[in-house]
Order: sequence, then C-alpha cells, then structure tokens
Amino acid sequence: MRKPVIAGNWKLFKTNKEAADLITRLIPEVKSNRNVDIVVAPVFTALTSVKQAIAASNIMLAGQDCFWEEEGAFTGEVSPKLLLDAGCSHVIIGHSERRQYFGETDETVNKKMKAALKAGLTVLFCIGETLAQREAEKTFEVLNRQVTGGLSGITKEQLKNIIIAYEPVWAIGTGKTATDEQAQEAHAFIRSLVTGLYNQTAGNKIRILYGGSVKPENIKGLMTQPDIDGALVGGASLKAESFSAIVNFG
Ligand code: 13P
Repeated sequence: MRKPVIAGNWKLFKTNKEAADLITRLIPEVKSNRNVDIVVAPVFTALTSVKQAIAASNIMLAGQDCFWEEEGAFTGEVSPKLLLDAGCSHVIIGHSERRQYFGETDETVNKKMKAALKAGLTVLFCIGETLAQREAEKTFEVLNRQVTGGLSGITKEQLKNIIIAYEPVWAIGTGKTATDEQAQEAHAFIRSLVTGLYNQTAGNKIRILYGGSVKPENIKGLMTQPDIDGALVGGASLKAESFSAIVNFG
C-alpha cells in the first residue's frame, strides 16, 4: 500500500504573516487525518515561521527548490543543508516553472536531487510535458527523457526518498485538469519507467503525484486511479478551505 501524499506548492505567494494565517487555519482542519502525508512548500522567507506553527502537527515542510552545493560563493542560492536547518523534510525539484523560466535542465535537476538526497531530504521530483509536446504526441518521449535523466546515477536505496510529481504543463494554473484517464495513462507509464530502471518492487513502491489544477471537485476521481498516489497542488493550496478539502478527500 502506498500512503497518499498531498503537497501544497505555495509558489511565489504569501508574506510571513499571510503564511502564518494560512497554516494556523489549516492545522485544525487536517489534524485528525493520519491517512495522508501532508506537505506544504512556502517561499524560503516564510519557512521558519511556518515551521514554528506546524511544530506539533502532522504537516511537513518543503522547500520549493535548492542548489546542489552545500555552501560557497553562490549568491542567491539555498542549499539542502539550509533547508534542513530551516525545518524542511522535503524539497521540490524540477518544477516546470523552474525548467521554463530559470533554465533548469534534466542535468541540473539530477545534480540537485543527488545533493538533496545526500543531505537527507525527501525529493518531490517534478516532470511533465508541455501542450506542444502533447499535441505532437511526444508525451511519452518527454517523460522518458525526464525520468531517465533526472534519476541518472540515483540508487535503488535513494529512490525510496523520491516522490515523483507528474504535472502536465498545460494543466498548471489553467483550470484545465488532465482527465482521470489521461493522468492514469501517464502515471502508469512513469511507473513502468521506474520498474525498467530499477525493478518491480521499486516501481510498485514509488509514489507518483498528479499536479495541475487539482481542486476539491476533482481530487476524488484522480485518487481512484490505480497509479495516482496523491497531488501536488498550487492555487488551491493557498486557501485552508480548499487545501483541507483536498487533503481530506477520502
Ligand atoms: P495549480 O494547482 O495552480 O494548477 O499548480 C500546480 C502546480 O504547479 C503545483 O506544483
């Protein structure tokens, strides 16, 4: 049995005060839910205040990115060690917005993942095709390249600390969710890639989240698909009401 994960990616939203307000409202709404791993990823500057608020709760903390070096002359970067220091257990790596706007490649994603895993973080490894790639029927080819490149040199043991998030770029922030069948088809393919790269057990165990316009209204349908193990939620994670409804989907 794969334990579901519902993660909220707050992207570039929320001051410290707004983040504290959101998390304070969220905690009581999800506190009795022990069936789901709950993660929130605030901006770097709000990590510490959110960590203080969630200290005695069942909510875990993630960074939205990290660099591959531990320290040094790398102005503007944050290392896995510093995310741990701020109270994170998880980190998002390879989000499509970073690939699209900040030059992230499969190679840099791979370097970041290795550094994060080495430091002891659990990685939310994001992949997904653009609309143009889907329309050109390149979805499987793109996913193959992203999975193979991202996981290059990562051991079976390290894989246990990776959660894959399939986020079709055309579904992010557009209100246009992949259908349950489209998502399931991609998830089954991704699982088969992991099985091929490692083995059957690794493929069976890896958790694969769906991301892209997940809302309280569509979470149930997605979660009934055999290869969908949770969600990475953007917009709907910015309100306690909608995020808790997604967490408590069952
Ligand atoms: P939306 O839920 O706003 O579509 O964002 C998805 C996402 O990018 C989560 O990482």
